[in-house]
Amino acid sequence: MATALAEITVKPLSDALGAEILGVDLSQPVDAATMKAIEDAWHEHLFIVFRGQDISNDDQVRFCSYFGDLEEVRTGKFANEDMKHTMMITNVTDTGLQTALENGDMWFHSDQCYYEYPCKASTLYAIEIPSVGGNTLFANCYTAWETLPTELREKLDGLKGHHIYDYAGNPMKRGDNINPDSPQYFHPVARTHPATGRKALYVNRLMTDYIDGLPEDESAEILEQLFAHGEQKEFVYEHVWQVGDFVMWDNRCSMHARTDFDPAERRMMRRITVKGEAVV
Ligand code: SIN
Repeated sequence: MATALAEITVKPLSDALGAEILGVDLSQPVDAATMKAIEDAWHEHLFIVFRGQDISNDDQVRFCSYFGDLEEVRTGKFANEDMKHTMMITNVTDTGLQTALENGDMWFHSDQCYYEYPCKASTLYAIEIPSVGGNTLFANCYTAWETLPTELREKLDGLKGHHIYDYAGNPMKRGDNINPDSPQYFHPVARTHPATGRKALYVNRLMTDYIDGLPEDESAEILEQLFAHGEQKEFVYEHVWQVGDFVMWDNRCSMHARTDFDPAERRMMRRITVKGEAVV
């Protein structure tokens, strides 16, 4: 059931996670009380969407800046100084902007977990979408952690996962196939969210290659178990895009994966991310 707050209406989207926020026009500045209500809804639902928005890059920058400093795009060249926070996630190559559309995005991942300070929030604004597919799946990593067998949680709590992302090679490959100089970092297998205090499973199929401190075979076996557990349907909300959707998700307690689409069709999302804190 939709809940009316001071300035916004929050409509849950699934049992797994996600909420639609109604009653906000993001092309206009949003007052602090409304932003706080939006932030609370984001912490509660992990993923929020505002439908039917008509927003510029500056509008997206203004909204994202409420949540912290913006991440500069760390790969590639800036198209220009004004757009240094913006990456177009698209199969359209003539935008004149920084673009990316990785096959790896179709495996579950948490943005930038291979850096010491992964971004906490990722936002996408849907400019063009294909007629079928190109949806995005979001999985609830709190539920994933909380529903693991107690003995496994006890075994994993305190251990760290090694995360790595090979931009130049095939990031879906494992082991010896990964360029050892790729960006990489160790983070707790279960991280604690700084705002909610809840623990979330923080490993993913695309970027986590082993659990430090476990024998290789055991690490591989447990990781496969954790990936399958975290990706199960009950923990996942599938977002079917509409042009004008503006979404924000929390990388500290969710992971996501895109579904495939016909490469002959155009898909264009404008992405800006917000810097995160140390992972604990
Ligand atoms: C991403 O994986 O960060 C982008 C997801 C999408 O394009 O739907």
